[in-house]
Amino acid sequence: MNPVLSEAPVGVRGEAVAEPSSALYSSYVNPQWVKLLNVLRMNQQYTHCRGAELFTADGRRILDFLSGYCVHNTGHNHPDIVAALRAELERSGPGMLQSHVPDLAGQLAEELCTRAGEQLRKAFFCSSGSEGVETAIKFSRAHTGRSGLLYASGAFHGLTCGALSLMGDPSWRDGFGPLLPGTEEIPFGDLPALQETLASRRFALLILEPIQAEAGIRIPTREYLASCQALCRKHGTVFVLDEVQTGLARTGKFLAAHHFGVQPDVVVLAKALSGGLVPSAAVLMTDSIYASVYDSLQRAIVHTSTFSENALAMRAGLATLQVLDREQLGLRALEMGHYLRGRLRESLAGYEMVKEIRGQGLLSGIEFKPPRGLRLRAAFEAFRRIHRGLFGQMLVMRLFNDQHVLTQICGNNFMVLKAAPPLVVSEAQVDEFVNAVRAVVETVHSSNTFWSDALGLARRAVGI
Ligand SMILES: Cc1ncc(COP(=O)(O)O)c(C=O)c1O
Repeated sequence: MNPVLSEAPVGVRGEAVAEPSSALYSSYVNPQWVKLLNVLRMNQQYTHCRGAELFTADGRRILDFLSGYCVHNTGHNHPDIVAALRAELERSGPGMLQSHVPDLAGQLAEELCTRAGEQLRKAFFCSSGSEGVETAIKFSRAHTGRSGLLYASGAFHGLTCGALSLMGDPSWRDGFGPLLPGTEEIPFGDLPALQETLASRRFALLILEPIQAEAGIRIPTREYLASCQALCRKHGTVFVLDEVQTGLARTGKFLAAHHFGVQPDVVVLAKALSGGLVPSAAVLMTDSIYASVYDSLQRAIVHTSTFSENALAMRAGLATLQVLDREQLGLRALEMGHYLRGRLRESLAGYEMVKEIRGQGLLSGIEFKPPRGLRLRAAFEAFRRIHRGLFGQMLVMRLFNDQHVLTQICGNNFMVLKAAPPLVVSEAQVDEFVNAVRAVVETVHSSNTFWSDALGLARRAVGI
């Protein structure tokens, strides 16, 4: 028997397959995703994940500075959250009865509203950020009797049809239209534009991320957000903050809104509420907005979702809040974020392609700019002609393959590398990340291999 073939992985019908972990996924789920990860050499099998570390089947330890796009605020598989879920499973309670009052949802709602503070006194639970944004759309329309929806340039609010209607970037929208009518985009940070648009009194909501994550970690001024709130109040528009990435202590406070002293009418939370284990989202809002939807017995369940208040999701949310409190992860995010950006600024000073390091808490971005020097500029422009995300993706690939660090570029700004580790990250892990980034940035500026590898990557991608 051919020893190579005998050891080769086989598919369901006994046929030899090339990628042991990916063949079925490739056949039955998303072959393009598998191809993309293969091209980037990032198709790994993970055996286990703990805190800020991921362990692969081939014996590597990867430092996670992505956190599943801000899902893993409490770290991967936090033992207390795992224990809470185990206990919930073992009690054989009413997981998804749909015909009772789920007390855990009441408890979690109280905990969330207390932390969010001020006028946010009701919660609607669902299972994803997009679904939370859909909820904000419906409740704002019901509350105002208007249909218009206003959003900011660069925004990322999710990929269901309603949420997608609130994102201008054509790369997400193309081919899925027509999307919701009555939506309008205004430039993020432009108050005169907002003033003029809201004055039409056509808009049910203004939705903003308090810090735009996928747009490149864009942090507005305090005055901007305060004026957005004041203008919404003046013109009868619901002021919605999408805190799907920024919420649950990611930026150092429970809500990023708390840094800016604003009091939104609606806040969407998701991602980290799951504890990294059970999908969950919550839309917090004022009593009066809530009452606009559930305004009679006939409408007691007019907006609902099968999985929304399921016991495991509620347990995961409650356990996550306990861990955030007990381990003071908000404070930790503030301190570690400060330390991280300080170290990055120090280590990356003098590299001509590094434009800015910015962030709040443990949501940071390293922005790159096109080089001025002739040698680098020629290479950079060649890349840009192939794909505008190629440079950023090469950084990600190098960090992963050479330095064993997982990160990503921002989804709507390919020149910004995102750094968002679990909030439990240690100082030593931050140092490791900074050294890894410095090593890759050094390669960008000093060696030809970074650029020639990228051309190889482009060729592999085209050959797909
Ligand atoms: C700011 C923001 N809002 C909404 C969403 C959509 O969340 P989900 O993917 O859970 O639907 C995302 C997802 O990345 C997000 O970053």
